Amino acid sequence: MNLQEEIKRRRTFAIISHPDAGKTTLTEKLLLYGGAIHVAGAVKSNKIRKTATSDWMEIEKQRGISVATSVMGFEYDNYKINILDTPGHQDFAEDTFRTLTAVDSVIIVIDAAKGVETQTRKLMEVCRMRKTPVIVFVNKMDREGRDAFDNLDEIEQELGIRVRPLSWPIGIGQNFKGVYNLYEQNLNLFTPNKQTISERHEITDITSQEIDTLVGERAAQKLRDDIELVEGVYTAFDHSEYLAGNLAPVFFGSALNSFGVKELLDCFVRIAPYPQPVEAIERTVNPMEDRFTGFVFKIHANMDPNHRSCIAFVKVCSGCFERNVYYKHIRQQKQLRFSAPTAFMAQKKEVVDEVFAGDIVGLPDTGNFKIGDTLTSGEDLHFRGLPSFSPEMFKYIENADPMKQKQLEKGIAQLMDEGVAQLFVSQLNGRKIIGTVGQLQFEVIQYRLEHEYQALCRWEPLQLYKACWIESDDEQELRNFKLRKAQFMATDRDGRDVFMADSRYVLQMAQEDFKHIKFHFTSEF
Ligand code: G4P
Repeated sequence: MNLQEEIKRRRTFAIISHPDAGKTTLTEKLLLYGGAIHVAGAVKSNKIRKTATSDWMEIEKQRGISVATSVMGFEYDNYKINILDTPGHQDFAEDTFRTLTAVDSVIIVIDAAKGVETQTRKLMEVCRMRKTPVIVFVNKMDREGRDAFDNLDEIEQELGIRVRPLSWPIGIGQNFKGVYNLYEQNLNLFTPNKQTISERHEITDITSQEIDTLVGERAAQKLRDDIELVEGVYTAFDHSEYLAGNLAPVFFGSALNSFGVKELLDCFVRIAPYPQPVEAIERTVNPMEDRFTGFVFKIHANMDPNHRSCIAFVKVCSGCFERNVYYKHIRQQKQLRFSAPTAFMAQKKEVVDEVFAGDIVGLPDTGNFKIGDTLTSGEDLHFRGLPSFSPEMFKYIENADPMKQKQLEKGIAQLMDEGVAQLFVSQLNGRKIIGTVGQLQFEVIQYRLEHEYQALCRWEPLQLYKACWIESDDEQELRNFKLRKAQFMATDRDGRDVFMADSRYVLQMAQEDFKHIKFHFTSEF
């Protein structure tokens, strides 16, 4: 197989959902179909249960599991599929955002009874921003839930994307009889079973009496009526609209019962995009280019506190990454080579010689990499697309052990490189401010500082509303603003000016008073 063929058969995607909608279960079933695992129950949920905010064993366990399940690659029907896992807990949303920069498409799982939930809405915003193609899987059809049309309406409204069902459920809950696959025109009958795949009937004509025999007259008639309505309401599936991120095909099923999953997978490999061009500041990089380029989207610190080694997860954007070949680390302007790059197949890591565009390669690292770093065959490139979002919670971080100042500094710096949270330094008093998405991140930082760096920290409360990156073409106005707001100005890790607004009102006033200043809520603009 040549380079182009190798790349074109790759499908790299993430599954996103609100916790409990069934992401882990669906992932597992996809792996089962791919033959990557052989028994159900092999994929551990990476979620931290709500009660576990102070249960450190749980967090450590989660970190261990998430290395193993960060990337799950498997072969299916001559396609190479890479599922990138995203943390279930909303306090790690930033991790999920970054993972979404490394995928070419997304499958959204929705609980049929609950519809669109908050976390899904937030993640979809990121997909919309990036125009990532999405497929929706409405899960838990074996439970009592809402009407399929109601769910579709809600998805359109809440997620801001047009939908087109490609399968249609026959009943729901106790009366769930199966799905009619509109894409392949066949009927799949549901027999609740967690381990095996249910029967499939090739029925190309929806008026066929065979359907009545199989599911009963009433259900058959309802199916025909529903499908007539579907065909009337929704326009035919347009592949290019899906690829442009404007149209989401929808499937119905029950992940727990392995039902509707094969339809999803078969359609997914056919319609989902192969690795797509990636924007660098200098130019657009095409995956089919011969020369290797890639960027670090995730860093995972090792569990063993005695050896501070990490794994940097690199998304290969073009060409082929090879073992023991020198590549250029652009930020450090130095040549590095890797003798033990790992690929992720199923839940195993293994040392590999070649990794193609679209794949993820894990590089053992001892502190060379930061989130967002670019690695190339030599060209000076900087990939875009790893924005930091304005955090929602802020605290001053203080040293609680004067003898360990150095360790604390180092610990904070490395944890920030890993992308655990964001660091700002107040321009007024030089104090360090940590910004996070949720309380759990503060607890993780404190715990890891103590256990990995032997440093103690103390938090001091800080009431802030948002951190906004500011810029303006009007130098004078920018200077005035910074003077006026001196006590609320801070600097991010790249030395950029950040306005720490302490309330929504203050921010609105600032926006009105300083019309020539742009306030950005992500670090990339
Ligand atoms: P998540 O990763 O999105 O958080 O969800 P996960 O797959 O862990 O699923 C959440 C719960 O929903 C699990 O039950 C799982 O068994 C159940 N579930 C997933 N898919 C279906 C489905 O199609 N039908 C039904 N009825 N249930 C489904 P749990 O009791 O929380 O966990 P467990 O003890 O079963 O693992």
